[in-house]
Amino acid sequence: MTALTDDPMLVRKTFAHFPSGVSFLSAERDDHKHALVASSFMVGVSLEPCLVAFAVQKSSETWPLLRDAERIGVSVAGEGQADLTRKLAGRDRARRFEEVSHSVEESGAVFIDGAALWLECSVYSESDAGDHWLVLLEVRDLGMNDIEPLVWHGSRFRGLALESSVDVE
Ligand SMILES: Cc1cc2nc3c(=O)[nH]c(=O)nc-3n(C[C@H](O)[C@H](O)[C@H](O)COP(=O)(O)O)c2cc1C
Repeated sequence: MTALTDDPMLVRKTFAHFPSGVSFLSAERDDHKHALVASSFMVGVSLEPCLVAFAVQKSSETWPLLRDAERIGVSVAGEGQADLTRKLAGRDRARRFEEVSHSVEESGAVFIDGAALWLECSVYSESDAGDHWLVLLEVRDLGMNDIEPLVWHGSRFRGLALESSVDVE
């Protein structure tokens, strides 16, 4: 068996083969909007309290600006939002919101239009996770739209496909 350290590409490729959604975490602070794209987002960590989680690189320049926000808006990308995802993950942080349709709540949470579902969260805890921080968010409000989610798999954006089962007699 190959040691993981011998083949970092194997780790990356295998992790990339795990399908996930694409989440936009965003908030406005001091008249500036900040956004982070995360495929590591997961729901259902806890129901009471209502907790979700995601992992963020310690090198992230955006997370230090988001972590102290009163509320963070999480918008889960809907179908057709691949280009939007690239934009919100773009290197030029100041231009991420250019021509991106969104709304800002009084709490400072920012939501991206066209999302499949949304969660308004506050930071619950943050713990060390190697080269990432593992962040738990407490959900304060949530809702969903009649929009299919975008899927991230094998470093590509995809849509959901229905796999119908065959009737067994
Ligand atoms: C599809 C996709 C998924 C991503 N998932 C994550 C993630 O789960 N965690 C993370 O820290 N960065 C993730 N990134 C990278 C961030 O969006 C962002 O580019 C990175 O944090 C650097 O920008 P920043 O310094 O403004 O944070 C992802 C990018 C893309 C395009």
